Amino acid sequence: PQKIIIDTDPGQDDAVAILLALASPEEIEVLGITAVAGNVPLALTQRNARMICELAGRPDMRVFAGCDRPLGRDLVTAEHVHGKSGLDGPVLPEPQMPLQDQHAVDFIVQTLRAEPSGSVTLCPLGPLTNIAMAMEKAPDIIPRIRQIVLMGGAYFQVGNITPAAEFNIYVDPQAARIVFRSGAPLVVMPLDVTHKALVTAERNDRFRALGTRVGVAVAQMTEFFERFDKEKYGSLGAPLHDPCVTAWLIRPDLFSGRHINVEIETASELTMGMTVADWWRVTKRAPNALFMGDVDADGFFDLLTERLARL
Ligand code: BDR
Ligand code: CA
Repeated sequence: PQKIIIDTDPGQDDAVAILLALASPEEIEVLGITAVAGNVPLALTQRNARMICELAGRPDMRVFAGCDRPLGRDLVTAEHVHGKSGLDGPVLPEPQMPLQDQHAVDFIVQTLRAEPSGSVTLCPLGPLTNIAMAMEKAPDIIPRIRQIVLMGGAYFQVGNITPAAEFNIYVDPQAARIVFRSGAPLVVMPLDVTHKALVTAERNDRFRALGTRVGVAVAQMTEFFERFDKEKYGSLGAPLHDPCVTAWLIRPDLFSGRHINVEIETASELTMGMTVADWWRVTKRAPNALFMGDVDADGFFDLLTERLARL
């Protein structure tokens, strides 16, 4: 299995991404989960991460708290999408499993140094603060990263938090810039892909019909944030953003994209956090990311339903 660290700000869709990884031990070995401030403040994201591990029957998983604010800006949160707790929808018990003492950034650095070079994949599902901090603190880890598979950015689909920017990149554009310029191999799941992975009523019914605690909780989670996306985008259902990351690790054939140059806007207030993606290769800037454009949505939901049934 591929060794990964999930860096996350749960978030209902983060939760589903984590559940998918934990349900797939043949393909994925989760070394630890690091929480970051994003959808809601850090105190809630680290708690939510532990709640999800317990829901998955994995109280042994190690969860670390990381940065509680972006590198150079005030934190922007998204309670309007995810609810006050960040995980509104199901009623889950308060987690009993401990939060690790070590800081998430130190865990990331230590793990990349301890594991064989080129063996660990980072999977950021929120603002890139923890990852950028780790790179700044210990640049020696950068060539040791196998790849970074992240949810963030937008190109044809444009922004969801400002007209130009996607939430994860917008919250900490400075961190995103560090990561996109690091030289580490990047796989990016932008809104262009995730807005094709829509939880329709029928797909949600399949989660609920699993009849398990996990299946029902996932149905309740997606239903909660669907109310926002349906009204907002008039689409058939909510985009299931973050699970695209963990699905790609299992079934990369479900996705397609282009290896292109992607730069992050960090100066203009108007377009702050925009992912300037050279989709048509109109510059000579060197490609730094496999930027996804499409997903086989039926295949993606089949995979998700089949895996969630295992928990
Ligand atoms: C991203 O922002 C968050 O609200 C979601 O969890 C996802 O990671 C989508 O823009
Ligand atoms: Ca997220």
